[in-house]
Amino acid sequence: MTLSSPDAPDLDVIIFGGAGDLSFRKLLPALYMAHVHDKLSEHTRIIALGRQAWSRDDYLQFIREHSLAFIDSQAFDANAWQRFLQRLWYVCADVTRAEDYAALTALCNTPRQRVFYLATAPQLFSQICAHLDTAGLIDAPSRVVLEKPLGTDLESARAINQEVARHFQETQIYRIDHYLGKETVQNLMVLRFGNAIFEPLWRAPYIKSVQITVAESVGVGSRAGFYDGAGALRDMVQNHLLQLLCIVAMEPPISLDANDVRDEKLKVLRSLKKMTPADVKRDTVRGQYTAGVSDGQPVTGYLQEGQVPADSRTETFVALRTYINNARWAQVPFFLRTGKRLQQRQSEIIIEFAPQAFSVFGQNATSEPNRMVISLQPQESIQLGMMVKEPGSGMRMQPVRLGLDLQLSSDKRRAEAYERLLMDVIKGRLTHFMRRDELEAAWTWTDPILQAWQDMDDKPRPYPAGSWGPAASSALMARDGLTWFEES
Ligand code: BG6
Repeated sequence: MTLSSPDAPDLDVIIFGGAGDLSFRKLLPALYMAHVHDKLSEHTRIIALGRQAWSRDDYLQFIREHSLAFIDSQAFDANAWQRFLQRLWYVCADVTRAEDYAALTALCNTPRQRVFYLATAPQLFSQICAHLDTAGLIDAPSRVVLEKPLGTDLESARAINQEVARHFQETQIYRIDHYLGKETVQNLMVLRFGNAIFEPLWRAPYIKSVQITVAESVGVGSRAGFYDGAGALRDMVQNHLLQLLCIVAMEPPISLDANDVRDEKLKVLRSLKKMTPADVKRDTVRGQYTAGVSDGQPVTGYLQEGQVPADSRTETFVALRTYINNARWAQVPFFLRTGKRLQQRQSEIIIEFAPQAFSVFGQNATSEPNRMVISLQPQESIQLGMMVKEPGSGMRMQPVRLGLDLQLSSDKRRAEAYERLLMDVIKGRLTHFMRRDELEAAWTWTDPILQAWQDMDDKPRPYPAGSWGPAASSALMARDGLTWFEES
């Protein structure tokens, strides 16, 4: 095994926040997987910046202790791991101080492509970019990856974008949303645009409703400090769920080029019905988990998590109904739902097709709507609910599911989202990253909801950990004669 790719350019991946959670849980395991599968060139280096006054050996020790648990044990190879560690460098720096960039500049003294990965709080992005520029580390081939959260509202997102744009061209900026790197999410594009049979039906009036659920069984845990200032709408809906909605709803792009795909997603975001305060009151449900049982274990409520103020009104659950005001989706409700400490980890998209206009089997015949269930995680599958004849005499119907297990459909390795997206950055592929106007359009839609919640001055509804959220979430669907998929 060579463990290096002769085709890939030599580059430096420079990670700000190199000792943070994201780095040791996701970025370094992803880079290790790229290394072990020969996707990195021989001289590619990974330079981590952190505030800890560590030597390189201290950092390597830290990574050994913290990252190994996040690497698939079947992909682990002790020799490859040793060689991977040789790629790693560590620079101790307070990234807000210009003088702390001297060591990085000294290390990056040969001309080669640089990828700056900003995995820090977004308030630091502007200073980091300015200091990198002053240090002469940014040039035309450089790329910068911006980790979410990109702002807390439209104004702060615009400010970040403006600051970063002073130092990088838009084509050098990779705004990451790791949902866009998931195999099943990318597969949605193939499902829609690679199969002739779906396109004619993929619209009103043939589709009756769309549900998008990203349910998590975990609580906020050690991220409570950050999470309390964000909440589920900012943390999950503004980015991941809206991106899923875009892929479900977009028109076929004219090509897979980054701007062609992003133009179509932008149109969806701009067509989302802007919610008035009355819409927000009627069409959104906020929840906050209380003590309960999760994965068989008793767990505390959100307000008892360390670092959460006793009177916090931060939502850990959101369900909402929205509409896309365009010709394809007129009158089709889109229901989005996400929450922490829900009954199980389950991300899925349900396309419910409209009933037949006339049934030859009579009004009383048992029938279920045709639903396409696209499961993103933990299973990766596509199922189509259909009616077939119940065996025996008579013409009674029964529901069955036509299923495709995507994990079994190929024995090729399925890379994790971060590995795939990091390789896209290295190869200069922007398709699965958000463009500036997309991000701002997503905040333009989200802001009035946040504002209305603030003005409504009521608390999120409590729901016990281990449930599917507040009862009002089911009531939101029931109003349209619908149910969440797990209730059907
Ligand atoms: C992150 C959110 O973006 O996505 C987290 O900040 C959330 O709160 C996570 O837990 C979910 O990602 P995944 O890939 O586990 O579904």
